[in-house]
Amino acid sequence: MAAAALAATVTVGAVSAAADVAGSSGVGDSYFPESGNGGYNATHYDVVLRFTPKGHQVTATVTMTAKATEALRSFNLDFRGPQITSVTVDGKRAGHTRDGDELIVTPAAPLAEGAEFKAAVSYAGTPGAQQNGTLGTYGWVKTRDGAVVLAEPDGAANWLPVNDHPVDKAAYDFTITVPKRLKALANGEPLAPVTRGNQTTYRWHQSEPMASYLASVAIGRFEMTYGKVGGITVITAVDPKFKKDLTKVHRRTVRALRWGRRTFGPYPFKTSGGIVDDPRLDYALETQDRPVYGGFVPSEDFIVHELAHQWFGNSVTVRRWKDIWLNEGFATYAEWMWREHRSKRDGTAKTFKSYYRQPPGSPIFASPPGAPGREQMFGFPVYVRGAMTLHVLRKRVGEEKFSRILKTWTAEQGGGHGTTEQFIALSERISGKELDRLFDVWLYRKGKPKRGSW
Ligand code: ARG
Ligand code: ZN
Repeated sequence: MAAAALAATVTVGAVSAAADVAGSSGVGDSYFPESGNGGYNATHYDVVLRFTPKGHQVTATVTMTAKATEALRSFNLDFRGPQITSVTVDGKRAGHTRDGDELIVTPAAPLAEGAEFKAAVSYAGTPGAQQNGTLGTYGWVKTRDGAVVLAEPDGAANWLPVNDHPVDKAAYDFTITVPKRLKALANGEPLAPVTRGNQTTYRWHQSEPMASYLASVAIGRFEMTYGKVGGITVITAVDPKFKKDLTKVHRRTVRALRWGRRTFGPYPFKTSGGIVDDPRLDYALETQDRPVYGGFVPSEDFIVHELAHQWFGNSVTVRRWKDIWLNEGFATYAEWMWREHRSKRDGTAKTFKSYYRQPPGSPIFASPPGAPGREQMFGFPVYVRGAMTLHVLRKRVGEEKFSRILKTWTAEQGGGHGTTEQFIALSERISGKELDRLFDVWLYRKGKPKRGSW
């Protein structure tokens, strides 16, 4: 690139930077090529946000702390939010331009390879939601009395300037100021709110690494309940419309959490709970610590699914979206296991059979879950055939080994990432069996797997 040649004479400190480059605009995800950015790793986001209901106005400053992985003359953030008012890098005004969903930042001086830096972006206006045929409504979603964020897969950029790809997890702090009649929730642990005049500031701290699609705020009026499971604080919040179901949602969450700890291994975070907000999205998102349920009172199964994601997806995170069955297949199988735990008559074998009975033309078998394609990343095969894959694995390796595979997966990959290849290798290591064929048939072959073929 010509820019690199131009930068060749720039001196950073005492070292002459021979090859300052422009950080790339994506991390190479085949489903979302522009998601995430190259040239740095984010370690922390400080999100300071003020919400004014009148005109649905947001003013915010997001400060990303990151480490340059190469010498950078510029780098990108993903951002689809409103008007930018200032950008600084390490406190100094930085150049910035927007190109579609990319925000290109040029610091006053190039960043040396290995340098830690802070990029602060201030902006004001009204963030929005993505509307997409198969992915539905996601991003910054307006509610009757505020807003709620559900951002999977690439909607974090709708409200945050961010390295928006799950490969780059980071810790987060949220400082959210709202009129005092409203509340603001976010991921992690709550700090004491402070009211000044007619404004209240809520603070939330997420110390564990979190993928950007799991970052969330919920602003509005909420009825809330608190509880404890072991050392975990459980916070359940519902829109006043769902007030009569608050206790039910909370109890179901507590029950699912207890079972999850026994089944998948230690709970990976410090807090848990759930948020039922009013917009009718008809789906939920496993936002880290506290899932958001979009406009409905979740059943026990639904809660189990979203809590299972805290281990499978949130603690062990995909490196590429193609591996999404590691999230959805596992969370769906957790539902089957939960039902088996509740009633022997509702066993996983019965659930498996009810799906396996379906004809080859059934939507369950429409695409292979290990390579669903971007449009079908949340389709039936990823959820159901993904869960069926785990069931055939369990039958092959036996109860005890299967349980060890799940617990070892969360213990070894927890706090980081996992790939399908790593899961297959782990399953083979623990079972001592050769499982290539089983996974190949169930994850990658087109059509309904034929009996005896795995
Ligand atoms: N991960 C969510 C679940 O637990 C689904 C998210 C779907 N995302 C979307 N934009 N529709 O099932
Ligand atoms: Zn899910």
